[in-house]
Amino acid sequence: MGIFRGKRALVVGGTGGIGLAMALALASRGAALTIHGGSSMERLRNAMAGARKKLAGGGAVTGFLYPVQAPVEDAAASILEQTIHINGPPDILILAYGPFKRHTLQDTTADHWHFLVEHNLIFPGIMVSMAISDMITRGWGRILLFGGTNTAEIRGFTTTAAYSAAKTALGTLAKSVAQSAGEWGVTCNVICPGLTDTEYSTPEERKYNRERSPGGCAMAPGEIALAALGILENPAFNGSVIPVDKGLWV
Ligand SMILES: NC(=O)c1ccc[n+]([C@@H]2O[C@H](COP(=O)([O-])OP(=O)(O)OC[C@H]3O[C@@H](n4cnc5c(N)ncnc54)[C@H](OP(=O)(O)O)[C@@H]3O)[C@@H](O)[C@H]2O)c1
Repeated sequence: MGIFRGKRALVVGGTGGIGLAMALALASRGAALTIHGGSSMERLRNAMAGARKKLAGGGAVTGFLYPVQAPVEDAAASILEQTIHINGPPDILILAYGPFKRHTLQDTTADHWHFLVEHNLIFPGIMVSMAISDMITRGWGRILLFGGTNTAEIRGFTTTAAYSAAKTALGTLAKSVAQSAGEWGVTCNVICPGLTDTEYSTPEERKYNRERSPGGCAMAPGEIALAALGILENPAFNGSVIPVDKGLWV
């Protein structure tokens, strides 16, 4: 069970939703874990307590809050610095935070484009660029990015063009890491979750997810985390963009 024993993990956006499921999964595999959250101290405390209960193989749990806002490079630098200060440089970097907004293309303003691309592509891109040197030096690293639903290949979207464009581009980021750092034991992959109910989902979103998901049942964060563990454990996955969506086709 302690397959990540001795490894340090950072989960950005690890206090809720899919990120929380990732934090719990990594704790159960023995990683020394840092959980980052946005603004809710209550969710951070609950996430840390939940991860401590799952601890296996000598891991430990730390955490802190840092809201990501413009300029995102400052947030990326601060989150990495704070993590290194309390837990050392991460061997495993999980970038779960990724805000979503739905607008038709005509209603997507310049501010929407800036926000969605900065938070879903530029922020993870900067985090990856800052974190890989240490991984290369140590000869081992795991990076996991989260795409959007149906962003594993280039296609069009009627109400999520900016979000989905940024998420689709994460595939290029992952493949670039694989080419630049794969020979030093660093992997980077993208999971594209299906429609997933989380504690943040509104009743309308749950209804939307249910009606469009195969079998009328949305994904659960734990199902995504289980798939992610297999990808993190196996270095044969590198530069891969993997839908975890029960075969969703809409
Ligand atoms: N849910 C889905 O159906 C779905 C489908 C496809 C792809 N995805 C992708 O999967 C990833 C996880 O999604 P999710 O729905 O589980 O949750 P999410 O809303 O993207 O992330 C929640 C986490 O991010 C933190 N957070 C929120 N706003 C923040 C901010 N301004 N600065 C820093 N941290 C902030 C939250 O902390 P606080 O609670 O403290 O705010 C929490 O830890 C995302 O990249 C998302 O785009 C989700």
